Amino acid sequence: MCGIVAYIGQNEAFPVLIKGLQLLEYRGYDSTGVATLNGTLNLYKQKGKVQDLLNFTANKKTDGTVGIGHTRWATHGQPDNQNAHPHVSHSGRLSLVHNGIIENYATLKTALQNKGYHFSSQTDTEVLAHLIEDIQTEQLVPLDEAVRLALQQVRGSYAIVIMDKDDKTRLIAARKSSPLAIGICKNGEFIVASDAMPIVEYTNDIIYLDDEEIALIDLINGLKITTLDNKSVALNIQRVDLSPEMFGKGKFDTYMLKEIYEQPSVLRSMINARLDPQYRILFDELLPHMDKFLKARRIIITACGTSWHAGLVAKYLFENLARITVDVEYASEFRYRNPVLFPDDIVIAISQSGETADTLAAIELVKEQGIFTYSLVNAVGSSIARLTDAVSYLHVGPEIGVASTKAFTGQVTLLSLLAIHLGYMGGKIPTQQYTELSKELEKLPQILAKTLICNAQTQKIAYLLKNHKNALYLGRGYNFPVALEGALKLKEISYIHAEGYPAAEMKHGPIALIDENMPLVVLATNESQKEKIASNMHEIKARKGIIIAIVDEHDTQITQIADYVIVVPAIAEPFSPIVSVIPLQLLSYHTAVALRCNVDQPRNLAKSVTVE
Ligand code: M6R
Repeated sequence: MCGIVAYIGQNEAFPVLIKGLQLLEYRGYDSTGVATLNGTLNLYKQKGKVQDLLNFTANKKTDGTVGIGHTRWATHGQPDNQNAHPHVSHSGRLSLVHNGIIENYATLKTALQNKGYHFSSQTDTEVLAHLIEDIQTEQLVPLDEAVRLALQQVRGSYAIVIMDKDDKTRLIAARKSSPLAIGICKNGEFIVASDAMPIVEYTNDIIYLDDEEIALIDLINGLKITTLDNKSVALNIQRVDLSPEMFGKGKFDTYMLKEIYEQPSVLRSMINARLDPQYRILFDELLPHMDKFLKARRIIITACGTSWHAGLVAKYLFENLARITVDVEYASEFRYRNPVLFPDDIVIAISQSGETADTLAAIELVKEQGIFTYSLVNAVGSSIARLTDAVSYLHVGPEIGVASTKAFTGQVTLLSLLAIHLGYMGGKIPTQQYTELSKELEKLPQILAKTLICNAQTQKIAYLLKNHKNALYLGRGYNFPVALEGALKLKEISYIHAEGYPAAEMKHGPIALIDENMPLVVLATNESQKEKIASNMHEIKARKGIIIAIVDEHDTQITQIADYVIVVPAIAEPFSPIVSVIPLQLLSYHTAVALRCNVDQPRNLAKSVTVE
């Protein structure tokens, strides 16, 4: 939540900041601000998106070779010009951008107010600007030391960049539980950002700050990193494999549609990299830990949102194929529940961004108890990836649309490969079945490409759905988590209320909602449950509900009962979620477009949820 970017070098900072903020807008988009420095401070803040700020600054002075910028997702204080970042210290000397939450801000604020400091916003962030300046002036210490002493008093999470009006050769950056990366350019420039996206246009050499690290970025003396307790840190420069083209929309109007259409190709790359010519599945990163997996008493999967849904699919996969007990936990509940853990448990975190605050905290909790942790993450170098004992990357490319699409299918595909691998290694899957399942997965990208043909049909049905206030999504077995995911997709981007249910649970409450105005999306692609699903559909029809059924190409039975049908190619049942979710992604997409909603940046949401 919130994106921050900063530049220091020989060129104009403003265009770098604006471009960076546009790339970080997925992290929050309720207000924006920049400050550049050229003798005087040019500070501009606007409610709304980066484009609003750009319009506002069109004829204004923005020059300067150092600057900081911010795109906000409000936590403390409503989205308006006053609460937008950068925030400026009492004397106007320091300006600061912040991503995170200062939990003890109220206590710090009262102490500063008692000393005569005046606050002009309702944010927690402004406390930091005044506190740092207070220490700097009272203790007569350099800025980096004042930042260090201030952060020692702070509880909560932060990624911050601070600029001093009187020194255009330095920036100070620091982080705790919110991400921050520093790009190191060959010509001596530095770009600091919440993730690598704004950086890779200028350099692929990046340092990801660790928790409680402070960077002194000095144009003359270079970069120095120290810890909060003032120990020097060796510079760990990583070369990231990302290019600016990956962040465009290509021929599509929206990131979401582009990412839906990317699914066949990104999954082809994943599967090709994981299968050898004999159809053996490769998980080299888990080789040193295989014994732990095979002897695990239980796997606990922890995640949030769509990633949690992928975890729920994994429960079916791991239990069916590898016969391993799996619990799936919302990270936000798990971390505060004092869960019973055994030394031979394995905890798996699933996260597209690798920065979700609750998932990160859940992993910190289990690590403290010495439990082995493993993560499935898309964002390379992210906090969760670095914290866990082992990580497998999805490598599906940057996902920028707030609604998760290719990350979900990437997660489920990787979890399918892992379930088969563990099943085989643990002797639960015979060689012949192992090869058959691997071969079936190899066909998946082609099957997904065929699935996308349903786009036109989903668009037609979206015209029906858009006129309704509610929808129910029903599925059984492997398709139950897909029902949850379909409902989440619809509500988050079209604002139509939707709920997912196991189809048989309908009789225990939700059936009361069904009448001629209730659309129900029924997932009916799993062969083993078809009879049962058909019975559930008869129960709906008896109450005049409108049925939109997702069926496979061999279906004859469900088609007879449903009002509308979306046909997808058939695939082995364990992999059916990866196929059946595609029409649901498209259905929500077209419904949102028909309702003129902003599909990439839905209201109140942000892509990366780095606060609790
Ligand atoms: O980055 P993560 O996978 O940890 O994010 C978790 C959720 O915030 C995320 O999946 C969210 O539910 C999706 N954007 C919904 O489409």
